Amino acid sequence: MAIKYLLQAGNYISTVEDTLYGSFVEHLGRAVYTGIYEPGHPSADEHGFRTDVANLIQELKVSTVRYPGGNFVSGYNWLDGVGPKEQRPVRLDYAWLSKETNEFGIGEFYTWAQKFGVEPMVAVNLGTGTPQEAGYFVEYSNLKGGTYYSDLRKQHGYEKPFGFKYWCVGNEMDGPWQTCHLEADEYGRKARETAKIMKWVDPSIKLVACGSATTNLPSYPEWDRVVLETCYDQVDYLSCHHYFENSTGKLEDFLGSYVRMDNFIHTIKATADFVKAKLRSNKDMMISFDEYNIWSIEGEPWMDFFDRDPNNRFTKAPPLLEQHYTFLDALVLGGLMCTLVNNCDRVKMASLAQLVNVIAPIYTQPNGAVIKQTIFYPFKWLSVYGRGKALRYFANVPCIETVHGQTKTLQSAAVYNDERKEIAFFVLNLDQHQTQDLSFTLDGFGKVELTAHHELADCPLLAQNTFAEPNAVVPHEVPVTKAEQDSLTVQVKPLSFNLYLFKVEGEQ
Ligand code: AHR
Repeated sequence: MAIKYLLQAGNYISTVEDTLYGSFVEHLGRAVYTGIYEPGHPSADEHGFRTDVANLIQELKVSTVRYPGGNFVSGYNWLDGVGPKEQRPVRLDYAWLSKETNEFGIGEFYTWAQKFGVEPMVAVNLGTGTPQEAGYFVEYSNLKGGTYYSDLRKQHGYEKPFGFKYWCVGNEMDGPWQTCHLEADEYGRKARETAKIMKWVDPSIKLVACGSATTNLPSYPEWDRVVLETCYDQVDYLSCHHYFENSTGKLEDFLGSYVRMDNFIHTIKATADFVKAKLRSNKDMMISFDEYNIWSIEGEPWMDFFDRDPNNRFTKAPPLLEQHYTFLDALVLGGLMCTLVNNCDRVKMASLAQLVNVIAPIYTQPNGAVIKQTIFYPFKWLSVYGRGKALRYFANVPCIETVHGQTKTLQSAAVYNDERKEIAFFVLNLDQHQTQDLSFTLDGFGKVELTAHHELADCPLLAQNTFAEPNAVVPHEVPVTKAEQDSLTVQVKPLSFNLYLFKVEGEQ
């Protein structure tokens, strides 16, 4: 029996903001050096930016890029990365026990972002940093001139302000691992006072306060309540961070990670709405899910990288967090991204963490090639086809019990794009054995034509893309049959992630 999906024109969750398809580049491992930036690489442009990497970032249609961290930012002085390169100090990076040469700083990031068409999302240091340093950073970046820091930017060769709109007020300050970690009330106050200064300098900016770094911390979700009660009026978004891994070793638990993400978002929504009511506010706090991905923390060689050899400490661009993604990881990521879309009424921004080399869809060899990791493909599908308005859908999907509770065996999202007159339907089949028949009723869109089916399927679960075999895991376009077309009924393979495109006349 086919599972019936009903989608109705006008029955939308919300607009999917372009900022849902952001990513993240931190000064960590080889994300910057030999990632996006490598002077002397055969593909490097006149600034030293790797164009082979930039081309793939553009293929992913990445909207925002969060920078410069991450844990790195909590010990970073942004002034170290501006001005003549030969005068920039070489520093110790406390977060990743690395050497930071500061060859690449905020000006280079601005130039890179401008050139390759991504919107910067900048983080300020609330670890070792002060509220005033954050204010100076906004002044340097966004004011036209006539003040010390805005004129300093001009002296550094940037006549026009950078105009950064999105700012993270610190990073994961709830994490005991964070440089100068704070308690919730301490962070709330520091964030509030920092936010006041930053918005006095430039009232047009949008601020993201640090929410919980993971649901695993004992402070979750109390942290979020306390922080919001302290700085609700000053900030525009609360961040969520979460990495997912195969922690129980059970396939269905890992594939069901999307339920955990969904529960997290619902808890933060509820917490934010509680604070809204308590403060008698009219403002809805939006969510920036600005770190998510699969990250197999347990068993990753980076954990003992520094213990293995003391000489590994404080080197430039060490090979940290270079996770090799599998076909299974790509399926899990597809499910997670559907969850972001289904919550787009509150999740207005998101960043896949990260973009290049460090737990990333793009992987480079220093002075060599670049490949697409398996997770490149689900991100690309959502980013390219998942823009428009997210449709609510009705379907009676069978559930299984997983570590997350009741888990639907199909996780999906639907997005209507009015310009293209197209509905994109994304679906993950978690079932390990069962092909599922899905039949669609698309109500109120006029004549409907199923035009394409792309599928990520039929691979060994642990298959990876490597430099030797870069196309071991790639999606395939599956021809749409006449029967599928006539009945709008399709077959979804077990353990597969799929994209269906429907051409429609438009909202009737
Ligand atoms: O993305 C890797 C790290 O994970 C980031 O630096 C930090 O914010 C998170 O803990």
